[in-house]
Amino acid sequence: MKHILITGGAGFIGSHTTLELLNKNYIVTVVDNLSNSSKESLKRVEKLTGKKVSLHIFDIINRELLEKLFKSKKFDVVIHFAGLKAVSESVEEPLSYYDNNLVSTLALCETMQKFGVRQLIFSSSATVYGDPKKVPITEDEPINPTSPYGQTKAMIEQILKDLVSSNRGWQITSLRYFNPIGAHESGQIGEDPNGVPNNLMPFISQVAVGRRPKLMIFGNDYDTPDGTGVRDYIHVVDLALGHISAIDHPAKKNEFAVYNLGTGMGYSVLEVINAFEQASGKRITYVVTKPRMGDVGICYADPTEAEKGLGWRAKKTLEDACVDAWFWQSQNPNGYN
Ligand code: NAD
Ligand code: UFG
Repeated sequence: MKHILITGGAGFIGSHTTLELLNKNYIVTVVDNLSNSSKESLKRVEKLTGKKVSLHIFDIINRELLEKLFKSKKFDVVIHFAGLKAVSESVEEPLSYYDNNLVSTLALCETMQKFGVRQLIFSSSATVYGDPKKVPITEDEPINPTSPYGQTKAMIEQILKDLVSSNRGWQITSLRYFNPIGAHESGQIGEDPNGVPNNLMPFISQVAVGRRPKLMIFGNDYDTPDGTGVRDYIHVVDLALGHISAIDHPAKKNEFAVYNLGTGMGYSVLEVINAFEQASGKRITYVVTKPRMGDVGICYADPTEAEKGLGWRAKKTLEDACVDAWFWQSQNPNGYN
């Protein structure tokens, strides 16, 4: 069975992907510096699957430790989740974003090259499109990120394209995620952001569980049906399964393949609140405030290419994601702590 190395595997998407891989009998090694996660997520994954994950705790910027790891095991595929991901923080601290996201990817690719591992699946983001000219967004939409975080994803994609052009047999798939939400249906693993959540769904669920008094809706004057921002919310388990499809349908030798992973459906902030209220039976108190800097009004995917190239499409609904997010949050009001 294939041995998969997952960088950032203790995090939100990484832990869900690890679980799905173990369920399909892949051998999984995780490297994570736990800067935005907890070992507990993987302990729970082991309990849920009855299988072991080999966890190595270090920063992948450290080439020596990476080499030691690659010397000790033979990996078939690397899934690269590790990175910083908060858009507004990246505006305040651009250097740490460029340093962490770019330098770690260079270290990882150099090590892969040295040890003859050529198959890479990279976590990109819909942020690379910035404010799209049209929706639904297809993969050929111009790349135009509006934050240092988005720039790091666009730059990494360029680096990976150049790597593939070097004709050394690299097979690289870049997956541009839209808005991952929800949790595993067991309620045992889910999203556990540090501090005040930046993203809508964890903020709503913390209001529902009583950790925060109210949600701030960032603007209701966008050119959308109810004026609030519209996004493509994808259940994290569907997203995790997208990575397995990418392993099963690898890019060809010397190919850089890129796919949107979204549902193709856009929902407004008010629609998400309504769906969460239905799922949880809780009232979500909110106030409308001014738009958040750098936000776009509407962003949702055309996921046709992923269906054609990976044989994958999202199956779960917004309602499923709200039920699962609430189950996770109500079982774990303080996350993994
Ligand atoms: P997350 O923060 O939960 O997971 C990232 C993991 O990487 C964390 O466990 C963190 O400790 C680890 N990490 C960070 N830098 C590291 C380093 N230098 N060395 C080792 N480990 C490191 O985030 P997530 O939501 O699971 O996102 C995973 C990936 O998907 C990220 O690259 C993110 O940019 C991308 N992405 C996320 C979203 C989203 O909304 N969640 C959307 C699009 C793309
Ligand atoms: N929103 C609020 N209040 C909040 C949080 C968000 O009204 O407290 C609104 C936003 O204005 C936006 C929508 O809810 O209209 C979704 O916002 P999120 O912060 O949840 O998601 P974004 O679309 O801004 O960005 C997310 C991730 C990025 C990722 C991108 C991909 O933060 O890392 O999705 O589309 F790249």
